Amino acid sequence: MITPGSVRVCVFDAYGTLMDLSAMVERFRPDLGDRAEPLLKLWRKRQLEISWLPPQVVTKADFWLVTGEALDEAMAHFGLDDSALHTRLMRAWLEPAMYPDVASSLLRLRAAGIKTAILSNGTRQMLDEGVRAAGLGPALDALLSVEQAGVFKPEPAVYKLVNDRFQVSPQSVCFVSGNAWDVHGAARSGFQVVWINRTGARAENLPRGTAATIATLADLPALLGV
Ligand code: LAC
Repeated sequence: MITPGSVRVCVFDAYGTLMDLSAMVERFRPDLGDRAEPLLKLWRKRQLEISWLPPQVVTKADFWLVTGEALDEAMAHFGLDDSALHTRLMRAWLEPAMYPDVASSLLRLRAAGIKTAILSNGTRQMLDEGVRAAGLGPALDALLSVEQAGVFKPEPAVYKLVNDRFQVSPQSVCFVSGNAWDVHGAARSGFQVVWINRTGARAENLPRGTAATIATLADLPALLGV
């Protein structure tokens, strides 16, 4: 349960939460045919796995670099050697599709006086370009990139960026993510956490649990009591 009226800042993960990565499958089907879905899945899996390596192994928290390395692996796995396609696949991260419930839900929160922000592994440039391409700027108070912390999620230093930026107690922050491991990282930092399960996926066994699970962001304002 979220305590009604307790949330002053609502923070969102980017990729897979606001930004619809699955839309890339149809976008690249003309290039990849039946390989589109498995290649994009493997790409995302390797991207996250590389980002989860201990900070002493990952020399720099650069998600653009990690995304490119993961794509090299995924393309090699499918026997693809096509630098023009590599460039176009990478560009898709700069103009990702937003889920249709994003803009209206964020604007409703802001109209009720709740600040909104993205906290993402994405580089500042990836986030800036993605938000600009979607015209989402007016719905957001801040874009927070892990670049500022120098480590990837779910390191605690990443979630602390929220407290540093907004100067509020962790309990007055609601953190929303479609990535269960990210939800757990945020819960460890004391935020009230919401898992958005858009696909009806089986719940993961998170040690700290969640305050709530929603299927669409349209349900978030009522959940926060606004
Ligand atoms: C992000 C990744 C985890 O946006 O999707 O931070």
